[in-house]
Amino acid sequence: MSEHAVDLDFRLDDRVALVTGGASGIGAAIGEALAAKGARIAVADLAEGSEFPCNVGDPDSVSRTVGAVVEAHGRIDILVNSAGIVRLGAAEELSVSDWEATIAVNLTGTFLMCQAVGAHMLAAGRGVIINMASQAGTVALDAHVAYCASKFGVVGVSKVLAAEWAGRGVRVNSISPTVVLTELGHQAWDGPKGDALKKLIPTGRFAYPDEIAAAAVYLASDAAGMVNGADLIIDGGYTIK
Ligand SMILES: NC(=O)c1ccc[n+]([C@@H]2O[C@H](COP(=O)([O-])OP(=O)(O)OC[C@H]3O[C@@H](n4cnc5c(N)ncnc54)[C@H](O)[C@@H]3O)[C@@H](O)[C@H]2O)c1
Repeated sequence: MSEHAVDLDFRLDDRVALVTGGASGIGAAIGEALAAKGARIAVADLAEGSEFPCNVGDPDSVSRTVGAVVEAHGRIDILVNSAGIVRLGAAEELSVSDWEATIAVNLTGTFLMCQAVGAHMLAAGRGVIINMASQAGTVALDAHVAYCASKFGVVGVSKVLAAEWAGRGVRVNSISPTVVLTELGHQAWDGPKGDALKKLIPTGRFAYPDEIAAAAVYLASDAAGMVNGADLIIDGGYTIK
């Protein structure tokens, strides 16, 4: 009999998980779900009162935050990059500042956190990174030029890191949901536009944050040891058509 056995309970006991954007929405749901599986959670967020205040788009802030989390918890086993923003506008009208802010937080922020935490994980010879991408990392969405550019980028960053780091014990994957019912989701999709989108989603609805968190638990667990460089699409089938 093989000595290998997958833990189908996906336990994460005593793993240290750093969750950016963990103060609200999907990040908060992921933090709760990882904690329910036994992980210790460190939340890094721009939001006031966050345990580890951080602007993921700022390299100094990122390196301070990662240093503080490692000091507090001794290591980081799981990194979830969920900090993100959306700035909508027709491509011919979107301001340069909206473009730059979106890329800074969603794409550069994800890269900076992966780089800073990845260094600790590579030194330890183990770690798991989960980056929140989006359906907007696979298909075009009207008025989402900066957001789509940032999320296509997140998928690309995740695949390169997965290729470079898996041999040294660090797995990297992304999750790409359709609209999720959070503040950001409401901001981008409330109203007739969202109702029209739902009609194009085979399951006929948007996603709930805990449905994304469930996938994050699996990806973070040892049961997903062979899942590396995947972009896990959770979109009710929107992008299959
Ligand atoms: N909600 C959706 O419909 C949806 C769909 C697909 C992908 N996503 C992605 O999932 C992630 C989470 O989205 P959400 O819906 O939970 O959003 P949200 O607005 O509820 O939460 C985002 C969190 O990120 C934090 N944040 C923003 N800028 C930051 C910065 N510079 N540094 C640190 N923290 C920062 C905010 O304070 C907030 O707590 C984002 O990357 C988003 O693009 C969301």
